[in-house]
Amino acid sequence: MDKIIEQMYQEAYRAYQNAYTPYSKFNVGAAVLLKDGNIIAGSNIENASYGLTNCAERTTLFYTYSQGYRRDDIVKFLVLANTKKPVSPCGACRQVMAELLPADVEIILTNLNKDIMKVSVADLLPYHFSGDNLHE
Ligand code: THU
Repeated sequence: MDKIIEQMYQEAYRAYQNAYTPYSKFNVGAAVLLKDGNIIAGSNIENASYGLTNCAERTTLFYTYSQGYRRDDIVKFLVLANTKKPVSPCGACRQVMAELLPADVEIILTNLNKDIMKVSVADLLPYHFSGDNLHE
């Protein structure tokens, strides 16, 4: 694992430990690496009304945007969970990632064993719905 990915991993792991998961007990952490060198991390936050749960990927991207960053500021995105194979983002997060991440971003899916799978936005969600479709 190269140094910058290791730093992202550590930040995502810290967020993973802060996940609020009283219902599933399934923690997830994510981190973005920004062009300015900052790393922003987030985790999944559950709710007694289960459908209101926010996944780690969306927490992280929404907070990143809330700080004023936009898709072209983002270089890499990492997601981790305690899974046998690298964690697989849910469908809702894939749609959000397709809009809020740049098309050429490096997405690193991993787990607590540090098994790594690198994918693109298009790998996760080919032919995705986008804002352009609204104006066709
Ligand atoms: N979860 C994520 O945070 N990201 C994913 O990509 C998959 C699922 C969360 C939602 C819920 O808190 C828990 O994992 C179990 O589904």
